[in-house]
Amino acid sequence: MSVVTYTLENEIGIIRLNNPPVNALSLALRSGLEEAINNAQDDASKALVILCEGRTFIAGADITEFGKPPMEPSLPAVIATLEQSNKPIVAAIHGTALGGGFEVALGCHYRVALSSAKVGLPEVKLGLLPGAGGTQRTPRLAGVEAALELMTSGNPISSQKAHALNLIDEVVDTDLEAAAIAFAQRLITDQAPLKRIRDINIDPASAPKELFDGYRKTLARRARGQIAPQNIIACVEAAVNLPMDEGLAKERQLFAECLTSPQSAAMRHMFFAEREAAKVKGLPKETPLRPVNSVGIIGGGTMGGGIAMNFANAGIPVTLLEINDEALQRGLGIIEKNYAISAKKGKLSDAQMQQCLSLVQGSTDYQDLAEVDLVIEAVFENLDIKKDVFTKLDAVCKPGAILATNTSYQDVDQIAAATQRPQDVIGLHFFSPANVMKLLEIVRGEKTADDVIATAMQMAKTIKKVPVLARVCYGFIGNRMLQPYFRESQLLLIEGSTPEKIDSVMENFGMAMGPIAVSDLAGIDIGYKARQGLSAEQKGPAKTHCVSDALVEMGRLGQKSGAGFYTYDPETRARQSDPLVMELVEAQAKAQGIERREISDEEHLNRMTFGLINEGAKILEEGIAQRPGDIDVVYIYGYGYPVSRGGPMHYADSVGLKKIYDTICQYREQYGEVFWQPSALLKQLAEENKTFAQWAQENA
Ligand code: 3HC
Ligand code: NAI
Repeated sequence: MSVVTYTLENEIGIIRLNNPPVNALSLALRSGLEEAINNAQDDASKALVILCEGRTFIAGADITEFGKPPMEPSLPAVIATLEQSNKPIVAAIHGTALGGGFEVALGCHYRVALSSAKVGLPEVKLGLLPGAGGTQRTPRLAGVEAALELMTSGNPISSQKAHALNLIDEVVDTDLEAAAIAFAQRLITDQAPLKRIRDINIDPASAPKELFDGYRKTLARRARGQIAPQNIIACVEAAVNLPMDEGLAKERQLFAECLTSPQSAAMRHMFFAEREAAKVKGLPKETPLRPVNSVGIIGGGTMGGGIAMNFANAGIPVTLLEINDEALQRGLGIIEKNYAISAKKGKLSDAQMQQCLSLVQGSTDYQDLAEVDLVIEAVFENLDIKKDVFTKLDAVCKPGAILATNTSYQDVDQIAAATQRPQDVIGLHFFSPANVMKLLEIVRGEKTADDVIATAMQMAKTIKKVPVLARVCYGFIGNRMLQPYFRESQLLLIEGSTPEKIDSVMENFGMAMGPIAVSDLAGIDIGYKARQGLSAEQKGPAKTHCVSDALVEMGRLGQKSGAGFYTYDPETRARQSDPLVMELVEAQAKAQGIERREISDEEHLNRMTFGLINEGAKILEEGIAQRPGDIDVVYIYGYGYPVSRGGPMHYADSVGLKKIYDTICQYREQYGEVFWQPSALLKQLAEENKTFAQWAQENA
């Protein structure tokens, strides 16, 4: 079937696009569209309407074509054909008109949209800029500031907002096709002019230099090291200062610079990795789902409260169970406070807040969980307590209810074994703050049933999380990989570095926060307490934790006590260096017989990032994660890893696995096998000169 069809009805030429699933602008669609417009120039039509079949208007360029040789006609050429048409063209928008899709609409002379539709220029999220005239046409219609906001955030806006910004001419509630045709008929009757956006000039006074400088500065901070946002600003500046064709040429040049950058390759990898992660190997698409219409949560502490909010936000009633009434009131109070903060920030209305709060009921009686579809346990991180909770759940919950644990490290199989229904038990590992963080690690136990896994993956979408499936091991994917990363940060510190140096190396790499600052944020006492029950052998060499232990014993637990590796301003929470800490580090190094030395930035970066990668490779070879891309999704959405690096495994591919393997072998010689044991998979791929991406394709 053709992706573009054309019919002529009552002087109106209707061009229908049908390229499932999202009408991406593949070569076939571009050629078909161009041909249809050209042919219509000489027929009896007096106006044209572009309509899309399926769930959406055009969702953008075909991302799978990027990185391959370009194929004519290019999208800018097709849009030029549209704009130059001697008959008015109306774009009829439903679903989402995104990126190149919205640029097609801007190349038309008029735009009609359904009220439920959204439009946007999300290219920046792929490390790109709108490269088919979007940077030149959007500011001409919507003004410079609105255009900058739309393109540098990449967030879509409603058709109503787009209407208010002149980007849409008419918004209708129903029957888009009829409305767009009626609009075109009015154009014919009124002999309306061809409204070409290129003919609009931007008043330079509306875009002072300070406006651009302000955006440059903000984005340098918000999107550290990213090329695309800065290039977008340069394009909009060109839209103000240069004639249309020169602005378009500038856009083309800067688009090409983005497209060929490793940043865009990384971000495009993430686009597909995120969608791939939602798929479970070996699980048929038609696996039946269990209903999740009510949820019980056990433990209303840091995690339980946030988890409850996710479900209430999705309109699903929650029963929050606590150990006693006092703990329950505390938990409910925190939820109320969090909602009040969101309402104050304008993120939800008072009515929405009340609606959400009405969906959260408290309880101290397990009987109140008898009928819920899903229970999520978020009590203290202690295996015996968790087993006790699951024994009680087994006794009261209805058959078929899904019983989940939010444990960070405990063995999901042992927890499942506390019940008579291990097939219904699964790990749902949320990240803190649970109402904000997008990642959800879903941990399948040995006996977890397929439909429980499928339901959990679907449920994640309902509560707007990004799910990644893992198998059981200590720390699952994310926290297990953190161990060598934090270990190396501590070793670098005692061998010669400083907290500031370690954090700045990782923050310059793009991490949201360096590992030392993260330790302070999470609380240094957590690791300290976890080590208490361990033997000397289990604890590992003292030099990896002697500084942390000494800090905890001094009462410096991290941010929560006002001081850890850094001190913290009580009001702004800004971190400050503390000379006392370096005195402590030097004393501990002496006690450990370590002669401190100068360590290069490169060694800092490689020891920390290669530590993560090596553990990631072990996780793959053990089958804990399904694919390298899944690990990347975990790190981008759960640990502040820079999206422009594409996650640790994509970064590994960009560095080269042979270089990483050789460096790890060298570290093994230098620092000992106790710290560095190269993964067998890494060794194999290095020897075969392959990437993780190639390995993933071969094992799809
Ligand atoms: N190109 C190729 N494939 C695409 C695509 C695109 N632009 N957009 C979506 N797909 C694919 C997805 O990979 C997925 O494939 P799969 O089923 O094999 O996993 C399938 O279409 C469905 O996508 P989603 O699962 O994301 O479906 P949703 O309904 O949840 O979301 C959407 C639909 C909002 C359109 C979302 O897919 C999306 O945001 N797409 C990307 C939009 C975008 O970034 N456009 C800009 C592209 S860059 C560009 O246009 C450059 C230009 O300026 C020159
Ligand atoms: P928390 O200490 O803040 O809250 C635990 C709550 O559980 C307390 O309110 C306590 O009263 C309640 N509780 C304890 N025993 C109970 C029982 N038998 N029945 C009912 N309620 C009980 O702990 P937090 O941080 O919320 O952690 C909970 C779980 O989530 C742990 O397993 C932890 O490993 C995991 N987790 C924690 C993360 C974090 O950053 N805090 C991140 C991801 C997972």
